[in-house]
Amino acid sequence: MEQRIETQNIEGRKDVIVINRRSFFGGLMAVGSLGMGALLSVPVLRYVLYPLYAKASGMGWSDVGPVSEFASSTEPVRKTITFAQRDGWREVVSAQSVYVNRTGDGTFEVISAICPHLGCSVSWQKGQDEFVCPCHGGRFAPDGKHLAGPPPRGMDQLPTRVSNGKLQVHFEFFRSNVPNQEKLS
Ligand code: FES
Repeated sequence: MEQRIETQNIEGRKDVIVINRRSFFGGLMAVGSLGMGALLSVPVLRYVLYPLYAKASGMGWSDVGPVSEFASSTEPVRKTITFAQRDGWREVVSAQSVYVNRTGDGTFEVISAICPHLGCSVSWQKGQDEFVCPCHGGRFAPDGKHLAGPPPRGMDQLPTRVSNGKLQVHFEFFRSNVPNQEKLS
């Protein structure tokens, strides 16, 4: 069975369109294929565009060391921690230095070794009983409080927890040279 449709084009000529069962199902198949193609392209597009909309994910918890290692410390202990950051498709593993202080009540504080002035690495000076930054002479107390020099705030304290007997830290980066701690995401 077929159906004929007559149309007139702009030159006045008559066109006849014949629709039979075969061409009807052919059209239906074409529409179906287009729909299926569009559906299948969604995950591919999401994969390709992922870095554009995915935020760089932050760091998780990093092991600092067994709690017993710091239980009898009387001054800041320097440790290197590692953490992974996901940026788009890439996973970047970074290492950073932190200092561990045992507090009076038996808990621990962990402070970043990154100088809050312009980001140099601060080191503990045993004889002076204070932290000193080699870049511009910033000085800090054992708990990280600012004592002297250009840094506008004390050393940055980091979130900690104890898990299965291990001290862990959640490393974060903060904006340099501002008076208050401002987290960088
Ligand atoms: S970077 Fe530390 S005092 Fe300037």
